[in-house]
Amino acid sequence: MKLQILAVGLLPVVLAACSSGESTPNSSLSSSTESEKTASAKPVKRWYAFQHVSQGGRVYQENCAACHGKKAEGAADWRKVGPGGKYPAPPLNGTGHGWHHPLRILFKTVKDGSPGNQGTMPAWGEKLSDDEMIAAIAWFQSKWPEEIYAAWMQRELASRNQGG
Ligand code: HEC
Repeated sequence: MKLQILAVGLLPVVLAACSSGESTPNSSLSSSTESEKTASAKPVKRWYAFQHVSQGGRVYQENCAACHGKKAEGAADWRKVGPGGKYPAPPLNGTGHGWHHPLRILFKTVKDGSPGNQGTMPAWGEKLSDDEMIAAIAWFQSKWPEEIYAAWMQRELASRNQGG
């Protein structure tokens, strides 16, 4: 009983701290963050369809699994620079950095390979059709947990709003 009163007594203080501008780096964002929080209770709609994922699974296992792993888990020591200063293949299952990149950047990486030839990611533009590359991306995105996909979608939408 005592504990309950204490908790109720504290609540307004906690709420006040949350809504003060100082606790949120960008206070103008805080109202939209609130509504996103309520919205994220529902899973974000995925952009791809089942056909993409099943086609992509085949494309991926044939072309990508050798480096990125059968389950897109990445090479064992992917965080450590290998010989020649190049990094091993990162995971694509949502535990790497892939979710930082909007779809068009993921697509460009697959099509053109490592930017500026800094890494050993091959370019697939000659070997695979655009549809096959998109399907492979859909397949590994289907491995992403809900919160990673939701965070990616926010960046994706922001990048679309910037007009490309
Ligand atoms: C020869 C090994 C190899 C193969 C095969 C390969 N990759 Fe990669 N991939 C890499 C490496 C290494 C990187 C890291 C690139 C860098 O350091 O520039 C990478 C990076 C990526 C990234 C960017 C990830 C991020 O976190 O930014 C994506 C997306 C990707 N690969 C998708 C694919 C897909 C799809 C295929 C199959 C069509 C594929 N890769 C086949 C080695 C490979």
